[in-house]
Amino acid sequence: MDPLHLRSAGTSLLISFDSGEAEVVHWGADLGGTLPDLAILTEPVPHSSIGARVPAGLLPQASSAWRGRPALRGSRIAGGVSGLDFSARLRVLAARVEGTTALIEQADPDAGLSVQSALTLHDGGLLELRHTVTNDGTTPFQVDELATVLPVAPDAVELLDLTGRWCRERHPQRRPIQQGTWVRTGRHGRTGHDSSLLFAAGTAGFGNRHGKVWATHLAWSGNHEQFADTIGDGRTMIGGSELLGPAEVILEPGGSYTTPGLFAAYSDRGLDGISEAFYSWFRSRPHHVLPAASTGLPAGKPRPVVLNTWEAVYFDHNLETLIELAKSAADLGVERFVLDDGWFRGRRGDNAGLGDWYVDESLWPNGLAPLIEAVSSRGMEFGLWVEPEMVNLDSDIARAHPDWIVGPAARSHKDGGRLPLEWRNQHVIDLVNPEAWKYIYDRIDALLGGNNISYLKWDQNRDLLEHGHAGSSSVHQQTLAAYRLFDELRKAHPGVEIESCSSGGARVDLGILERTDRIWASDCNDALERQTIQRWTGLVVPPELMGSHIGPTTSHTTARTHDLSFRAITALFGHFGMEWDVRKVTGAGREELKRFIALFKEHRDLLHGGRMVRADVPDESLMLHGTVAAVPPEAGTTAALFAVVSLRTGYAEQPGRLAIPGLEADRTYRMEAIAPATGDPGYAHTFSQAQPPAWLDGGAVASGRFLAEVGVPMPILNPEHALLLKFTAL
Ligand code: GLA
Repeated sequence: MDPLHLRSAGTSLLISFDSGEAEVVHWGADLGGTLPDLAILTEPVPHSSIGARVPAGLLPQASSAWRGRPALRGSRIAGGVSGLDFSARLRVLAARVEGTTALIEQADPDAGLSVQSALTLHDGGLLELRHTVTNDGTTPFQVDELATVLPVAPDAVELLDLTGRWCRERHPQRRPIQQGTWVRTGRHGRTGHDSSLLFAAGTAGFGNRHGKVWATHLAWSGNHEQFADTIGDGRTMIGGSELLGPAEVILEPGGSYTTPGLFAAYSDRGLDGISEAFYSWFRSRPHHVLPAASTGLPAGKPRPVVLNTWEAVYFDHNLETLIELAKSAADLGVERFVLDDGWFRGRRGDNAGLGDWYVDESLWPNGLAPLIEAVSSRGMEFGLWVEPEMVNLDSDIARAHPDWIVGPAARSHKDGGRLPLEWRNQHVIDLVNPEAWKYIYDRIDALLGGNNISYLKWDQNRDLLEHGHAGSSSVHQQTLAAYRLFDELRKAHPGVEIESCSSGGARVDLGILERTDRIWASDCNDALERQTIQRWTGLVVPPELMGSHIGPTTSHTTARTHDLSFRAITALFGHFGMEWDVRKVTGAGREELKRFIALFKEHRDLLHGGRMVRADVPDESLMLHGTVAAVPPEAGTTAALFAVVSLRTGYAEQPGRLAIPGLEADRTYRMEAIAPATGDPGYAHTFSQAQPPAWLDGGAVASGRFLAEVGVPMPILNPEHALLLKFTAL
């Protein structure tokens, strides 16, 4: 069978069948149209071995002597005997390319198993890989794991993955690749605060804009593993799988199981190239709500400026206060007002009410209509917080249906079954139970149908522990049932956008983003923390899908105090909004806030459609990132916005020249610092210098090449301050 070769945006995927099974023999740089006879890739055979080469299969298997982590683990149950057909020998039956997708079928007729694989190399270079295993036998087959893996080239010597916690999601950790397996396991029943959004291997010291990188992302919101597996002969596979609970997937004859998608990108220009592949995929989705004059893509709906009520009023819902807040927001230029937690029956704090998705009559005698009217009559959209997958024991629904609450026991807690430990005073509603699913669907559907709501902030605030349906582990089924809830509600209310929130950023993955319109990156609105949270979340998630709000002057989660300019410059590089009692923002501060909102609106096409550039800055006290117009801008228009961010004091007396990469080399630009402005309240303490660099007053003109190669001296910024630079194409 001839090899299959997919090529796109500088990436090649080459699949050979010479060994009898599908084998990815190259995933990396574009190889061009002419290939040699792939027999030249046949490795030597070492002593003490099977006496033949061992293929690094698309589905690595012991039947080919692969002694690393196998792709398929499972066994058959027949005639009262379990553990049968534990080792499949999958051989290719058919393979073809349809458009940008390679479709491969492999089977083991003796074991009664077949696996269909689809590998799509999208236009921007992002590879999407899924396998489906089918039970062709006559007795049940239990799937324990089906992993999606890809080989990385031998020059990949370092791993980067992300980890975190509540209010500090997605921070990097690095280690050398050595023999053995590095596994990141998520047993949260949701994606998890510590989940590695990106799992990357690369050449020594790879950075934001240099080095070769091979990176994967697992599109799944339940239990999962991501890993790099380096076997004794030195070959390394990276990939991931759903972490299935005991007997969660038993295939009846003819039944099948499909893996979550593994999304993968290769870059020869560091992590920025990886982000480009992901952003390009997001931006080409039909439902991607976007502006995008600067991307050349058809214009969609611009992301509205948000005001979210959480850190403004918390549970203290009072119609008069909320209307005042809405008026104040409208005056500032807000375009979407989101009513957070606290509006439904019995919800005066975080210990009651979840599940009772009726507007609380005691607080809202006329329903939400008066508030929605106050919001929409001022030209703003109305959004509502919900947490459909959860339930408090102190709720009418939990009292009426104790058997709808998830637990490890087959019987309900009212009948003596054990409940999992409470988490934020709440439990999980069993969406695998069709009646419970229907109740939740009907309630959210009724709320959306009966009110002018155009946005849901869909929260999920606990880990799924000891999660069972009818006494059996059911995280797999629950995850699919939750996905179905999103899908059906979207179908019924196509105009409604949905945000994925999960105690901040604990459900950030492409599985959920396939059915939602943005993520809440973190409950931490402290701009300093947000700089790094957004930097690393932005590896995969483009800024227009990453909620980013200006919080109160003193952060509610860290007690740090920051100037408005630092908070606003941080929020600008996401889906911009506020989570703050803006009624109390007055005087010069209010004028400054208005200017930032106007600035976001003026530049949102660029911010939400441009190329993300993250400089490799040698001085670790500084960060430099920006968005550069994806198509060459007309003379006189803004070509890029960059933020220079001071995280802490630097080691040197002054930061010296900072190279600004990513602009067109042969184009000339006017560079100017546009925020904070000289009259802003925080301007004076942004700097700590006797004299500013010459260009700061009045700007500078230079070519993209000069800016990238020579750079410009930066002002001495005080720690936890930032400067916004605008580049106008001349
Ligand atoms: C979670 C979310 C917050 C807020 C609260 C409301 O913690 O992450 O943004 O919505 O719930 O209870």
